[in-house]
Amino acid sequence: MEVVDFSPIDVEQTSWQTSSQALSQLRHEVFVKEQGVPADEEFDSADAQASHWIAYGAGNEVVGCARLIDNKIGRMAVLQPHRGLGIGSALMRRIIRYAADTGLQSLQLNAQTHAVPFYEGMYFDCDGEEFIEAGLPHRHMTLSLKRFLDPRVTPPLPDIQSIDRERVVLDDAKSFNEQAKLLVSKAQRQIRIFSKNLDPRVYDNEELYQLMLAFARAHAYAEVHILVGNPHLLVQNSHRLLHLFHRLPSRIQIRSLGSNVKTLHTDFMLIDQAGILYNQSSGRYAGYAVYHAPLEAMELINEFDNMWNHSEPNPELRQLPI
Ligand code: COA
Repeated sequence: MEVVDFSPIDVEQTSWQTSSQALSQLRHEVFVKEQGVPADEEFDSADAQASHWIAYGAGNEVVGCARLIDNKIGRMAVLQPHRGLGIGSALMRRIIRYAADTGLQSLQLNAQTHAVPFYEGMYFDCDGEEFIEAGLPHRHMTLSLKRFLDPRVTPPLPDIQSIDRERVVLDDAKSFNEQAKLLVSKAQRQIRIFSKNLDPRVYDNEELYQLMLAFARAHAYAEVHILVGNPHLLVQNSHRLLHLFHRLPSRIQIRSLGSNVKTLHTDFMLIDQAGILYNQSSGRYAGYAVYHAPLEAMELINEFDNMWNHSEPNPELRQLPI
């Protein structure tokens, strides 16, 4: 089989206490060596209080970072050879989601003037005149989280029809596939899929692929997390979702279920904070779809995120069959 190598992006939240060495090294390379910022200005006492994020590339190489203090993003850096690959955007999306989830109303930053278009792409707006900081021209920029994220997290009540709260009973792969497509077409922000084998009858078809692609491209904060039990099958079958992962690595991540993770679930998909597709049987299809079940979805989201955090990107998935 012919393969091409591919670099996935994995973003993790961390602290100065845990990761000062990796963060210092990267920021020294980008800000001090490349941009000429004095080292004593680059590293300050705020680092110890801030939340930090690190982006890892292939082979767990540290390729990007950023920090957040109160509602201020700073020290956003991606190593030069890795720029333009979506790493900066992946970091920003993670921080924006964290900020929205922790109830912040807005985010602010001082953008180096050359990077303004990058932040504009994440819906930040400039306010105020250009100024000089650490010897470099900057603009102050703000993102209102209320305006952009609240309506997505909690859709306005009139939009939820009573039929959305009803369960659609499903008993074969075809009906699961139909409902998967309907649910994906409603997604605004995040899709989580847990599946032992990503059964091709449900997940590997052109229509679903196109809907996932459209979702990931259409929404600035879109994110797809796919957790699989058997990554080997994906590569072997050249699964479409693997191709999607390779096509939009900053939006779509696949991990293989950690060997220590125990779960009774076999297959489910979660759409934003409320939509569920659930198969409760391991040998056959028996389950349901519901478009708006936020309490139940919240429980599954917690379980999924817990499994996700105990799972790893699988090097085998970096190989794209061509
Ligand atoms: N100027 C204009 N557009 C830029 C840009 C720049 N400096 N950097 C990125 N973009 C655009 C990209 O073209 C891309 O657009 P597209 O989606 O239409 O293709 C989009 O922003 C996302 O780019 P992405 O690949 O996610 O960004 P990145 O991983 O290259 O990271 C920076 C962007 C700014 C973090 C990176 O260039 C960097 O580390 N620069 C040096 C340090 C720095 O200046 N940090 C900013 C401090 S405020």
